[in-house]
Amino acid sequence: MNRKIFLINSLSILTLPIFLEKCSSAHPRFKGNRTNNPLESEKDLIEPILKVIQVGISAPNPHNTQAWKFQILSPTEMNLYIDEKRILPITDPLNRQIHIGQGCFLEFLSIGANKIGYESEVKLFPEGESKKIGEKILANVKLKLSKKDSPLFESISKRATNRDYYTGENISEQEFEKLKILGQAKNSELVFISNQNEINTLNEIFYEATKIETLTRYINEENRTWFRFGNNEIQKHRDGISLKGQNMQEFQRFMAETFFISKEPEKFHSAEGNKIYLNTFKEKMNTNKGLIYWKTKTNSKKDWIQTGMDFARFQLSCTKENLVIQPLSQVLQEYKEMNEVRDKFEKLTSSSSEKNKIQMIVRIGRANSNFISPRIPISEKII
Ligand SMILES: Cc1cc2nc3c(=O)[nH]c(=O)nc-3n(C[C@H](O)[C@H](O)[C@H](O)COP(=O)(O)O)c2cc1C
Repeated sequence: MNRKIFLINSLSILTLPIFLEKCSSAHPRFKGNRTNNPLESEKDLIEPILKVIQVGISAPNPHNTQAWKFQILSPTEMNLYIDEKRILPITDPLNRQIHIGQGCFLEFLSIGANKIGYESEVKLFPEGESKKIGEKILANVKLKLSKKDSPLFESISKRATNRDYYTGENISEQEFEKLKILGQAKNSELVFISNQNEINTLNEIFYEATKIETLTRYINEENRTWFRFGNNEIQKHRDGISLKGQNMQEFQRFMAETFFISKEPEKFHSAEGNKIYLNTFKEKMNTNKGLIYWKTKTNSKKDWIQTGMDFARFQLSCTKENLVIQPLSQVLQEYKEMNEVRDKFEKLTSSSSEKNKIQMIVRIGRANSNFISPRIPISEKII
């Protein structure tokens, strides 16, 4: 049967209770809680270090794998480790993005510390860098009493990666300058692209890169393992990526998950599903209202973590100004199938993998939707 006719016919067999159940959309950040404010979400967390960890885990991180583990040393001190079981070896072979995610965590933690009357003293790699991922301490964090302010804290409970169509005017230079001041990049250089021709050229490259990732089966297979289907799976795992996280309308998502895309490899990688995904991606890129990237002079693990800190503050600044962003990491990724497109991108942006490495690139705009992705309770993350 023609798929379109099948979909139209299938509407008539959906009963209202089933439909409403499938569409139930309450996804608070923290388990069993209505609030997304990390400091109000767990009343039992008394120790300052646990409170600030709870703020830290709200942070953006690649594929929401939450690749962090905590060793608590005292009520005001902890060690952060990478959780080696939650990395992305195929799409992030150097673990560069995973380190950026750790930087995001550390920055959110520091903002949380300021909110509860502390300052965080962060020492990166106190035992030296690990050869094997997750083996050595990534950061030691000590909390010291302080009266520092945290103007970005209020944005933490509202912040989310936004993968929707963007609307309205392009972002102006003035808006960007304001975001830069609010976000205060300390470790990397921020570049804003507002020229429509440049945006269009890069949009095409993002599409090419995403096409490679989607159509190269072994690479997209990693995405499948982190893909969560339906509300129940999202709530159960409290990690990963989903169609809901694509800011799809509830009904469209329900139909897509019912008829086009599911956990089974054959359906996930189907030509039809890939075509719908790539066409939608292209349409969304055409609504980009500006592009921003972060570059560093060298390309060390510290650069990665510190770019994460800058990126995290910038995203909170966007939230404060009612703007949204979405990272577009495919073109930066270091697997061999991406080499050609990445070279093209680096030429266009006068960057390279050794010098002036672009660590993050995002689309920026305005959107009304907001999907809050859940987090795994910290009790399951303490070693
Ligand atoms: C280093 C890094 C790379 C990311 N790359 C992408 C990306 O390519 N595409 C995307 O849609 N989101 C990307 N994200 C966003 C994450 O998927 C997102 O933070 C995560 O799913 C949690 O959702 P939240 O930010 O809404 O809390 C990236 C985030 C980080 C920190």
